[in-house]
Amino acid sequence: MINFHKDHATLVNVALMGFVLLSTGVAISPALYMQDNNAPLPGMPKMTEQEQRGLNVYVSEGCIGCHTQQVRNIEMDKTWGSRPSMPSDYYYSKQRPDIWHNTPSLLGSERTGPDLTNVGVRKGSEAWQMLHLYDPRMVEKASIMPRYGWLFKQVDSTAVKPDDFVLTVPADKLDHPGSKVIATERAKDLVAYLISLKQTPLPEGVVAEAFIATPGADGKPVAPAAAGAAAPAVDGSKVFTSVCAACHQPDAKGIPGAFPALAGADLVNEKDPLKMVDIVLGGYEGLPQYGPMPSQAHLSDEEIAAVINYVRSNFGNDAPPTDAATVKTQRAVLAPETVQQ
Ligand code: HEC
Ligand code: HEC
Repeated sequence: MINFHKDHATLVNVALMGFVLLSTGVAISPALYMQDNNAPLPGMPKMTEQEQRGLNVYVSEGCIGCHTQQVRNIEMDKTWGSRPSMPSDYYYSKQRPDIWHNTPSLLGSERTGPDLTNVGVRKGSEAWQMLHLYDPRMVEKASIMPRYGWLFKQVDSTAVKPDDFVLTVPADKLDHPGSKVIATERAKDLVAYLISLKQTPLPEGVVAEAFIATPGADGKPVAPAAAGAAAPAVDGSKVFTSVCAACHQPDAKGIPGAFPALAGADLVNEKDPLKMVDIVLGGYEGLPQYGPMPSQAHLSDEEIAAVINYVRSNFGNDAPPTDAATVKTQRAVLAPETVQQ
């Protein structure tokens, strides 16, 4: 009979064995399994050095406190990505930065702000990201996100160098009239990282894990709409509010110098809607005084047609409508990778 009270060596050895067994079972072998059975998705871009530095800024500024980077396989997470997240999605971001630091956990647990898994698709504009970090309330009036003013510098306008990123801050928000707000290297790195956050599409033929439907009042999952049933008409004003208004602003008047107005714009009021369809699908770089507009091809044909018709018949605009079939035809040319089978 072992007597733990008298035999301290056995006590220590038994405790040690328990510790080793548990650590191996709970931590080490799952980690080894993940290491051997996890590869990046084909077509997944490697993180650039700048994006890696941006990730470190993301960690050190504590953005994880309010933002998740995980699309769970439940219906309410569907807005944050086109499919639930999987281990491969984290392949490059889970590399250890250096010997002194552990791999950052980007999953997050608190969603005070939106999930950022796919934010590079939703907000792929450098100008938007910069203004938002400098002062979130300049682009989202009711935002409760803190300002990250220390990632920017106010300099005399004569001190601006050609490769500086100059923010379009309205004159009344500047401490010194005539000065300019420029992004520091840390801000540039962070924005490069944020814009790189995009879900990689699965290889052709691979079906993504399904989202589990939210239970109805009776506790049972709500049955999906019967096949062939007419889909409810898309509300263009909702698409405008959730997608376009972030940059073009809820009143469609834009932010001078950052995002053009859609209210009263010649291009929006052109009789032929094709140009506008092409802009929304393919992005746009036609106006020299503005940065590029990212493609919004992640929206469906119906959503794009609805939002274009909404913009063309509101905010004082008056132009004939387009339809989903036109968007479909243009998508095959301008954004073939987003055509749904
Ligand atoms: C106190 C909580 C909080 C912290 C800390 C925080 N955010 Fe946010 N963030 C929010 C909220 C709330 C929103 C939604 C309102 C808005 O767009 O400003 C948001 C929105 C965003 C968006 C736009 C997402 C979208 O889908 O529109 C980005 C990008 C973002 N935050 C990045 C960051 C980065 C980078 C940091 C760290 C430097 C950070 N946030 C820190 C609360 C926070
Ligand atoms: C992330 C910011 C952003 C989002 C989101 C966005 N846009 Fe834009 N949009 C821009 C920028 C920037 C430009 C100017 C591009 C350029 O010419 O360099 C622009 C230009 C345009 C133009 C051309 C305006 C003109 O006068 O030539 C149209 C039309 C337009 N956007 C429509 C839309 C619609 C519709 C949506 C929503 C489906 C949308 N945009 C979403 C940033 C955005």
